[in-house]
Parts: sequence; C-alpha cells; structure tokens
Amino acid sequence: AIDPEFEENRDVVEQHDGHDVWGPVDEPEELGIHGTHVAVDFDICIADGACLEDCPVDVFEWVDTPDHPESEIKADPAHEEQCIDCMLCVDVCPVDAIDVDPG
Ligand code: SF4
Ligand code: F3S
Ligand code: ZN
Repeated sequence: AIDPEFEENRDVVEQHDGHDVWGPVDEPEELGIHGTHVAVDFDICIADGACLEDCPVDVFEWVDTPDHPESEIKADPAHEEQCIDCMLCVDVCPVDAIDVDPG
C-alpha cells in the first residue's frame, strides 16, 4: 500500500503536468508517487481503472509507463486540484495505491 507518510519519507524529485513527483524515480522500473493532495504510487498501481471510472470529478487520466513491471499505464492525478475528498478512489483501488489527504 502507498505510504501515508510519503511527504515525510520522500522528496519531490520532479514535476509532471503541474504536480509533484515524489522519488525515488529510476525509469522505467521505479516511478515514484505522483501528486500530493491526490497521491498515486505508480510503483503499486496495476492499472485496474476503478479510480478513473468512479471519480465523480475526473481527477485521473491514463499515462503510458512502458516497461514498468506492474503495468504499462498508470492513473495519473492530472486534475488533483478538482478533488472533492469523497474518498471513493481510495476505497475502490484493489491494491491501495492511492492516498487522499483532505487536510
Ligand atoms: Fe476523485 Fe473522490 Fe478520489 Fe478526490 S477522493 S480523486 S474526488 S474519487
Ligand atoms: Fe491504479 Fe488503483 Fe486506479 S490500481 S488505476 S490506482 S484503482
Ligand atoms: Zn503525474
């Protein structure tokens, strides 16, 4: 499961489409956590797709991650600023790859 304390335990190593990427990143095998308010651990995501289907405000978009060992697409929190903290994505992800911090 994603580390809920990732903001303490990791560092921001790059930006992707306007959101933070928390390392370590070593492509293509290690991709880190994308997003902060809505955080997706790309190294855990198996591209189940439930988060994209269920998010009422379309926070997520698929991104290609060729040669990643778990899946070749990931749910990117491309519009995390739109999140309304319903927590559906956290509940439906079968591998607990998502952390939402209502803060
Ligand atoms: Fe979408 Fe709700 Fe998840 Fe926010 S908590 S990203 S609104 S499903
Ligand atoms: Fe990935 Fe979980 Fe969404 S596996 S596609 S973050 S439901
Ligand atoms: Zn991203």
